[in-house]
Amino acid sequence: MTETQTGHDAAVAATAGLAEAARALHPAWPALATARQELVRDARRRLHCADVFEVLADGDTARGVLAVNREPRSWTGCPVRDLTVELLPGDIDALRWASERVSTLVAGLDDETWVRIPWPHRALVATFETHGFNISSLVLAGSVDAARRAWSERAAAPAELPSDVCIRELVAADVEVVGELRRRVFTEQPQFCWFGASDAYIASWKREVLRAGPDHYGWVVERGGEVAGYFGSRVHMAHVLWGPCGGLDLVLGASVRALGIAAQAYTRILNVHRERGVRVLKGGTSQPAILRYAAEMKRSPLFVFMRRDSPFSRRHFQPWLAAAP
Ligand SMILES: CC(C)(COP(=O)(O)OP(=O)(O)OC[C@H]1O[C@@H](n2cnc3c(N)ncnc32)[C@H](O)[C@@H]1OP(=O)(O)O)[C@@H](O)C(=O)NCCC(=O)NCCS
Repeated sequence: MTETQTGHDAAVAATAGLAEAARALHPAWPALATARQELVRDARRRLHCADVFEVLADGDTARGVLAVNREPRSWTGCPVRDLTVELLPGDIDALRWASERVSTLVAGLDDETWVRIPWPHRALVATFETHGFNISSLVLAGSVDAARRAWSERAAAPAELPSDVCIRELVAADVEVVGELRRRVFTEQPQFCWFGASDAYIASWKREVLRAGPDHYGWVVERGGEVAGYFGSRVHMAHVLWGPCGGLDLVLGASVRALGIAAQAYTRILNVHRERGVRVLKGGTSQPAILRYAAEMKRSPLFVFMRRDSPFSRRHFQPWLAAAP
């Protein structure tokens, strides 16, 4: 086994190949012909602005890639510093190499660093924990059909809402108000979305909702005539990695929590996904209620995200970490 610094193109190809190998182990991975090209594009983007990248290779065969990159504008709208880990699944020596290299690499990294670990390599969570990182969220994906089957009894018996609470479709004029709701909720609870209250993210969320047109489905929850909650889904009918997929974006203010609205949101979104032919439901969360619903819908983890400013101990995610691969 040799550790080498290789040329840029070889590192990009290696990163994409390893990324595909890990994702291929996920039960909902559709193995589309378009995936490799997109993973190459993503690897190029990450490595293009990398401060550090290291490759573990045996001759021409890549077994591991570690990269630390800065992106001035990520999908969150915020600048991020990412630590990317891609390894050959099941390669114990590659895992050991990553663990040793991470111990050196993280020394200079600050609270802003976001670590993304593909689920097959989650043994590295312990390594990052020894350097002050905690899990900040899990990204989970699963089939819409399986979710609908698991959800059918709940969908048939929605909770009755108090008389001053109503759910109605989002209109363009609500977008500004929902942006401010997001700011309030995630300023109070940044642990559930570290970028959720930032100007950059709110601006990018508003832009995306208005731009997505008929591929965005949204509802607001009103209490006493005031917007107090929002849920919605942006569907991607031709996603290059996942095929037809969508998530669920849920932001409820304190006055409309614990009323059964999250459950109703899933029912509405799963109906939309069925009507549109969406196949995969995917998203990240650290919310106990949403993690529980994800387990009920039989979604499986895809990535672990870690940060130094996350307050959650391993116990918060323990049922997932303890489960069989
Ligand atoms: C997360 C959120 C959407 C939950 O909405 P909600 O409608 O108030 O959810 P509830 O409190 O009714 O909980 C939903 C379910 O999870 C369960 N639950 C609640 N807290 C739980 C916990 N700590 N552990 C396990 N299950 C929990 C509830 O018992 C309920 O189960 P049931 O439907 O079987 O009765 C809402 O709290 C919220 O918007 N929070 C702030 C914004 C946020 O974090 N959004 C990110 C979501 S990924």
